[in-house]
Amino acid sequence: MSKRAELHFDGNVYELPVLEGTENEIALDISKLRAQSGLITLDVGFKNTGSTPSAITFLNGEKGELRYRGYSIEELADKASFLEVAYLLIYGELPTEDQLTKFDTGIRNHTLVHSDVLEIMRGFPASAHPMGVLSSLICSLSAFYPNSLDPYRPAEEVDLTITRLMAKLPTIAAWSYKNEMGHPVNYPDNNLDYCSNFLKMMFSLPTYEYEIDPVVADALNKLLILHADHEQNCSAATVRIVGSAHSSLYTVIAGGINSLWGPLHGGANQAVIEMLEMIAADGGDVDKYVLKAKDRDDPFRLMGFGHRVYRNFDPRARIIKKSCDDVLEKLGVDDPMLEIAKKLEQVALEDEYFVSRKLYPNVDFYSGIIYRALGIPKEMFTVMFALGRLPGWIAQWKEMREANQPIGRPRQLYTGYTLRPYVPIEERA
Ligand code: CMC
Repeated sequence: MSKRAELHFDGNVYELPVLEGTENEIALDISKLRAQSGLITLDVGFKNTGSTPSAITFLNGEKGELRYRGYSIEELADKASFLEVAYLLIYGELPTEDQLTKFDTGIRNHTLVHSDVLEIMRGFPASAHPMGVLSSLICSLSAFYPNSLDPYRPAEEVDLTITRLMAKLPTIAAWSYKNEMGHPVNYPDNNLDYCSNFLKMMFSLPTYEYEIDPVVADALNKLLILHADHEQNCSAATVRIVGSAHSSLYTVIAGGINSLWGPLHGGANQAVIEMLEMIAADGGDVDKYVLKAKDRDDPFRLMGFGHRVYRNFDPRARIIKKSCDDVLEKLGVDDPMLEIAKKLEQVALEDEYFVSRKLYPNVDFYSGIIYRALGIPKEMFTVMFALGRLPGWIAQWKEMREANQPIGRPRQLYTGYTLRPYVPIEERA
């Protein structure tokens, strides 16, 4: 028997269609409820609202499972390259050898960024956060490629925009770092693979030719895969909403970057390191900060802990923690922050407050420590997250547009004044 749901309200009964996903998740379709009954549903922060059907990423927060297009994150992180995963997310299947070569070559051919974009960047002060520079410059690409403004352009042109974004984001990301450092920018080297090319643009100087360390390039490849998509999170939802107005894909991705920047989302990786540095500078008293995090009157939170969906270990955090130990050992780095992080994790995982709220370390808890070991400064951590998340954003946008979804436009429960007359300024108290 198929499942049925009914809403009884004010003496009337409304039947709500019941939908079932491929992993047996069940949703009540309320899209016609208002037309039938005048009722809307209210769910501030979308804590329990599905915004779309999606075939991209599956996440089971209770079991701590994450899959891209049906492949487990553990297997992908272990065996795949970031570009393979990007292709998988964007086009739905793992690429054949030919498809991957074509995708990779297309990206290599578009890594160069128009020199006028560099002029725009020069207008930013060195104090500009690289995330602000990144989102502004990505948005500016809509001016250099005005065809992207046409929502009905042919599929080949959409693919070209996707290739350009994948190709240019690493270049612009590395430039945003150079801007902060006040160093001259490096140009891409198309003989190099995606991760190596980015590392070289980041770290080469006119006085020093950066040599690719395969340990570093492999670690980066894994980190980018782990960040590549995470279903309907804050930035993916932003991307879908901005894109639903048929805005250019460049502006859509700029919207995703801005959303990711916040410390409750991707900005948490920078905030974690700043928190660990603060604890270290304060004598390393982990218990004191756990107490602060538990105090309702104290705004301090343990950054890198908790997640809207995971009520179990974030599977990405588990992989990153292991990778963190490996990378530090291989690179011979001894980072005192790792000791503090491990202590903090241990204390928090045994503390009733964190246990009862199911607050576990998330992806951002250990990623900053790896980035530090790779030589990446903390202001760039969220930029690294954006590099990884780009194919996920593109996939979310593409799925939404291909399904011809309507403009995103939530309802509200109005709680302001009812109608009142205008008061002339001289009569106002
Ligand atoms: N430290 C201390 N208490 C916390 C924390 C934390 N990090 N996270 C949640 N809580 C408490 C919160 O105070 C609340 O307690 P109570 O029920 O007594 O009021 C309870 O746990 C539930 O928290 P919530 O704020 O309702 O949960 P949420 O789903 O709205 O927020 C979150 C999720 C990720 C924003 C939040 O856990 C947080 O602020 N964490 C720190 C920031 C962080 O690490 N963000 C990265 C998320 S993973 C990367 C990504 O995908 O964006």
